[in-house]
Amino acid sequence: MTAQRQDSTVLPGLEPPVMGPTGRPQTEFATPPKLRGHGPARIISLSNQKGGVGKTTSTINLGAALAEYGRRVLAIDFDPQGALSAGLGVPTHDVTTIYDLLLGTVKNPAEAVIHTIYPNLDVIPANIDLSAAEVHLVNEVARETILARVLAKISDQYDVILIDCQPSLGLLTVNALTAAHGVLIPLECEFFALRGVALLVETIDKVRDRLNPAIELDGILATMYDARTLHSREVLERVVETFGDRVLETVIGRTVKFPDASVAGAPITSFAPEHSAADSYRQLAKELISRGAVA
Ligand SMILES: Nc1ncnc2c1ncn2[C@@H]1O[C@H](COP(=O)(O)OP(=O)(O)OP(=O)(O)O)[C@@H](O)[C@H]1O
Ligand SMILES: [Mg+2]
Repeated sequence: MTAQRQDSTVLPGLEPPVMGPTGRPQTEFATPPKLRGHGPARIISLSNQKGGVGKTTSTINLGAALAEYGRRVLAIDFDPQGALSAGLGVPTHDVTTIYDLLLGTVKNPAEAVIHTIYPNLDVIPANIDLSAAEVHLVNEVARETILARVLAKISDQYDVILIDCQPSLGLLTVNALTAAHGVLIPLECEFFALRGVALLVETIDKVRDRLNPAIELDGILATMYDARTLHSREVLERVVETFGDRVLETVIGRTVKFPDASVAGAPITSFAPEHSAADSYRQLAKELISRGAVA
């Protein structure tokens, strides 16, 4: 009883901060200011060689949230599965794809850009053809910098380019890391989340040493977090212990709304704009803008 009475007498303005799921006080990120001009883009690669951790979901929904804030966004489907293209309702057959640009059969990346029905959000699609790229490009001169050279031709027209990597550390992912200014690593809040992350960080370090000295780790994004399970909370705690401030404050909760939105071929911000899941990607967009990872 006494304790309760004490709680209710906290002076206004001196309330304890609201703690977020990462164990840090939760920041109210400001609504991003409007941009006066556009470009050149900051290129962010969403990478993790572990499958099914939320790379594609995060590329789609972060892209859509940034586009809502008036940022011009180009999302690159860099996975032969074409899940990013499908998730945005974009055709993958009988269209120019990222594969044509990598091979140089199409020189101008603008020819591959598809404007989605969502304002400010464009896509360069991919399909199964891309699975042949590693074999075709392996004998190319400067094979690791092919994507960087493609994107340099179009970067001025966007504020941010997001690359949705496939679950591998092969030549395509090395191309994505070489083209990128920053990497975002989605981690699913489950038992094996940290497995393989050391190898990914090692790969990023090698790319920094040999190919792309400027590459930064923009953050680790915890996904599919379920606050109701002790397991999810423990995994997140472990991730924060390991990576500290590199873990983004924004944590993406687990909800069936995401697969539902993918089936509908729409970002969550359009499929369920009022749902907290949509807000979590808006929060991520604001956090990245406030950290300077996006203009
Ligand atoms: N926060 C979430 N809550 C519930 N389900 C989610 C969430 N994020 C993603 N999913 C679902 O989990 C599955 C894997 O997600 P996604 O395709 O984004 O992962 P990925 O890392 O791109 O996978 P891959 O490595 O195969 O490319 C999808 O069915 C997706 O709809
Ligand atoms: Mg994917």
